[in-house]
Amino acid sequence: MNSNIAIEMRGITKRFGKVVANDSIDLIIKKGEILSLLGENGSGKTTLMNMLAGIYQPDEGQIFAEGEPLTIRSPKDAYECGIGMIHQHYKLVDVFTAAQNIVLGLKDEKLDLKTINSKVKEICDRYSFIIDPSMKIYDMSVSQKQTVEIVKVLYRGADILILDEPTAVLTPQETEKLFTVLRNMRADGKAIVIITHKLNEVMAISDEVAVLRKGKYIGTVKTCETSPQALTDMMVGHAVTLNIDRPKYDSQFPRLKVEGLTCVDDEGITKLDGVTFTAKGGEILGVAGIAGSGQKELLESITGLYPIKQGTVDFVTDEGKEKNLVGLTPMQIRKTGVGMAFVPEDRLGMGLVGSMGMTGNMMLRSWKKGKGVFLNRKSPEELAKKVWDELEVVTPSTSFPVRRLSGGNVQKVLVGREIASLPKILMTAYPVRGLDINTSYAIYNLLTEQKMNGVSVIFVGEDLDVLLELCDRILVLCGGKVSGIVDARTATKEEIGFMMTTVGGKEAADVQ
Ligand SMILES: Nc1ncnc2c1ncn2[C@@H]1O[C@H](COP(=O)(O)OP(=O)(O)OP(=O)(O)O)[C@@H](O)[C@H]1O
Ligand SMILES: [Mg+2]
Repeated sequence: MNSNIAIEMRGITKRFGKVVANDSIDLIIKKGEILSLLGENGSGKTTLMNMLAGIYQPDEGQIFAEGEPLTIRSPKDAYECGIGMIHQHYKLVDVFTAAQNIVLGLKDEKLDLKTINSKVKEICDRYSFIIDPSMKIYDMSVSQKQTVEIVKVLYRGADILILDEPTAVLTPQETEKLFTVLRNMRADGKAIVIITHKLNEVMAISDEVAVLRKGKYIGTVKTCETSPQALTDMMVGHAVTLNIDRPKYDSQFPRLKVEGLTCVDDEGITKLDGVTFTAKGGEILGVAGIAGSGQKELLESITGLYPIKQGTVDFVTDEGKEKNLVGLTPMQIRKTGVGMAFVPEDRLGMGLVGSMGMTGNMMLRSWKKGKGVFLNRKSPEELAKKVWDELEVVTPSTSFPVRRLSGGNVQKVLVGREIASLPKILMTAYPVRGLDINTSYAIYNLLTEQKMNGVSVIFVGEDLDVLLELCDRILVLCGGKVSGIVDARTATKEEIGFMMTTVGGKEAADVQ
């Protein structure tokens, strides 16, 4: 028996009705190592880890710890076995402080705050976290909330930490900080499992990579002996090419004219400051910026979801007539016949109805659009089938509730539905967040296809390599201002990185 092994899963099978989410999986998790769990959307990663976290029980197979069989019936059992999982959707109580959340449900709840705080501080110091135990959750950024979740798990004595797509919501800087913490935990002998679709992260952080494909265990490889391309081939099961084709659309024309767009939030903070640009039909206009630089407000104000304080937004019709969109609600915008599609950051919040199937969600969109907008009107069922087919959505049927699909498949349904509505302007915020690499490329190709149909595509992205490869032009936002618009075919990463933190030679912090 190798004493290095923290957990061994043998022959684990988990079914949901007819779906075999995990099919006789063997997996070894080692102490003092970081293991990446990799696989396409719906390949069974979250399900497998949920069985270690006590959320599900296996239908078949056995889990062992230190060579002894283990039964994990609840999250509490999992904690007692030293296993803690950080889920993608945080389970913190908003109105409580960090410290209250950390001890919630523990005997320690009755301890005085000073003792709790000093225990929390001890953990923070050990792994170089920074949190304020007395801060309320609702005042925290996503990354701070994640830190509380991790400290909560460590407070309960976890030696095995599982993180399900922890970086999906983090900026590159926050991700780097998280990785430092993970490395410190590894040095401390903890066993760590991380799920991420970003192969550069897999290469940077893990010692080994375990690959799942369609519910089956394919194998484990050493990170230093593999490459992103080899991992992708392993995940997909055949060789795949990872490059983006960027054809030029010859007859570009102005489709959306934005001038002096200024937005202010409830607290009077300026979110967009005099933003001016023209988005063209037949191009992909990328939007780059550090998280929170106004990307969200830009898309939401154009679609009528965020109030505009000043400036003009005009849609240019096929006949060249300009239609003012300022002051209109999303419904009114649709009624004027402006074909605008929007894939927001928050998929289940704003985009889809979780209890409905694909067909129901297609219906919702086409119904809302009103009459005469579709060029070739298809029935919602036909659209659902098309999206299912083209994006290879993993679902038992088009009526299966969307909320029970894997994270990535929910995203596919949303992107597919918006494209199927045949828009003139297609706005997407981080459309490949949570998507596996193969599907991400399928989405890039779909966006390019839309561009070659003359659609004006606005793409808010975070990965500069992708922005530079996919887009025709890139608008760079910094503190709510446009710091420049560059040609994506000639611009460099350094140039854009500089513009993301600087407007006209001024540091971002001064611009706020
Ligand atoms: N509670 C559930 N009820 C029914 N089916 C489920 C449930 N949970 C997961 N599934 C199905 O099990 C399969 C595996 O899902 P899982 O969430 O484990 O995938 P994943 O690898 O984590 O994918 P992603 O990368 O998209 O998050 C999917 O086909 C999913 O639809
Ligand atoms: Mg998952």
